Amino acid sequence: MSEHSGHAIAERVQGIVDDHAEMEGPLLPILHAIQDEFGHVPEEAVRPIAAALNISRAEVHGVISFYHDFHTEPRGRHIVKICRSEACQARGGQSIEDKARELLRLNWNETTPDGSVTLEPVYCLGLCTSGPSALIDDRPVAKLSGEKLAALVKELD
Ligand code: FES
Repeated sequence: MSEHSGHAIAERVQGIVDDHAEMEGPLLPILHAIQDEFGHVPEEAVRPIAAALNISRAEVHGVISFYHDFHTEPRGRHIVKICRSEACQARGGQSIEDKARELLRLNWNETTPDGSVTLEPVYCLGLCTSGPSALIDDRPVAKLSGEKLAALVKELD
């Protein structure tokens, strides 16, 4: 992921769209490729995708908003996801949620002003028996305590 100007975004999006032109059902692969490139799906990407696939912009927006893995805003260099599902809640997840928001001074889906960290909820990581759980930059963390979370967050730049 890198900084991109509006022109560079348009050019790169067109390249990605062209790369998938022959594919069957290309919308999701195109959106994933764009998110891999930019870290999110920029608004500038919607029009060329719609034009290339001969669908409306509303349809493209609909797919982006349907799948929670697509993001329309830039995210932090690090992503801290805290499990908010029931099993983790039963094991003290609420205090971990509170601690995460306090440590990062963020609410859900916000990013620190320096672009370092985005805080996101997640709903079950398959670590239910050893919760509370989190995912920090794709690294699963179980049996979280406030102290453990503070140490992990401190490691993030
Ligand atoms: S409920 Fe948190 S990992 Fe399953």
